[in-house]
Amino acid sequence: MSKKILILPGDGIGPEIVAEAVKVLACLRDDFGLAVETEEALVGGAAYDAEGHPLPEATLAAAQAADAVLLGAVGGPKWEPLDISVRPEKGLLGLRSGLGLFANLRPAILYPQLAAASALKPEVVAGLDILIVRELTGGIYFGRPRGVETLDSGERKGINTLVYTESEIERICRVAFDLAMKRGKRVCSVDKANVLECTELWREVATRVGADYPDVELSHMYVDNAAMQLVRAPKQFDVMVTTNMFGDILSDCAAMLTGSIGMLPSASLNADGQGMYEPIHGSAPDIAGKGLANPLATILSVAMMLRYSLNEPAQAERIEQAVAAVLDQGLRTADIAGEGMETVGTAQMGDAVVAALRLLRAEG
Ligand code: NAD
Ligand code: IPM
Ligand code: MN
Repeated sequence: MSKKILILPGDGIGPEIVAEAVKVLACLRDDFGLAVETEEALVGGAAYDAEGHPLPEATLAAAQAADAVLLGAVGGPKWEPLDISVRPEKGLLGLRSGLGLFANLRPAILYPQLAAASALKPEVVAGLDILIVRELTGGIYFGRPRGVETLDSGERKGINTLVYTESEIERICRVAFDLAMKRGKRVCSVDKANVLECTELWREVATRVGADYPDVELSHMYVDNAAMQLVRAPKQFDVMVTTNMFGDILSDCAAMLTGSIGMLPSASLNADGQGMYEPIHGSAPDIAGKGLANPLATILSVAMMLRYSLNEPAQAERIEQAVAAVLDQGLRTADIAGEGMETVGTAQMGDAVVAALRLLRAEG
């Protein structure tokens, strides 16, 4: 039976990069026998414009019914004046909470071909392979109370609350330890336990979970130091596990180690293995509509989808091989091009990945 994939292009560069990922999916379906059906729906600003809400009920229902969701990006200056409750970003957060996608995997891998595109010296990043495991449905993003209140004095007070229950911490730590068992067997739990009670609890629970994984070496680090260490000596890390907000920030930082945020895919998983897949970057309003965006993070997100939700690891590897092949050929979008290198646009990059896939088939 074919697997159902819901496609949510979203806003800004979202539709441009998703179109390239859809080409890749179509190639796997037509040339490599992948049994998938796709359906498209609205989310974010596009959904607000059409239906007055960033996450229409029909979109959430279609996401719940799908085997996996592929999302481009949401948001942009056009919708910034809206009330926060209907801003595009709420559509994304509603999908994450509505589907229970508590585990966000954000791998940061340096393709050797891109060593020169990294903001760091080649020797600092060569061979980099980090996995950030970000808690995605809790923490300060969802904690209550929240909002803006007006005090008796007339002054306003803004409130957000960092909240984690032990079970929320435990389940995300288990995901991190289970994944670490399949790779470098090291977990660094990142917190601010010197200041925030909530993350003092985080550290305690991480330590307790770690006792069930005697083969995995657990370390703890304060988030400020972790940000510094990521830039100083990133290869010390294998798996990092952290809260929703710290993971958001650290993953953008890790992205730059790999050359560009346009290279980083992600998987957001629930307890049933259902997942949403999206690049970690946003809608890039500064380059939207120009055909300049790097589609590789989105294409690599399809590879993660094949691996984590569709149980098609061989198809996932094909995509990763095809991406490596186009980088070998010297194809670069502007964000990953070194000085003086020629660049290609979004569609040319997508087409090149499809051509590389076809070549893999021809080579058998
Ligand atoms: P951004 O990630 O959209 O852009 C940051 C910088 O990276 C920009 O200079 C942009 O051009 C560049 N960039 C991002 N993706 C790229 C790609 N694929 N190829 C080449 N360059 C790329 O972050 P921002 O500017 O802070 O946010 C813009 C909007 O996107 C905001 O509305 C924000 O809320 C939203 N956002 C959405 C998501 C998401 O949908 N998952 C993630 C982050 C930000
Ligand atoms: C991300 C984004 C989102 C987040 C925003 C757009 C809600 O920055 O996916 O990294 O903060 O989680
Ligand atoms: Mn982010």
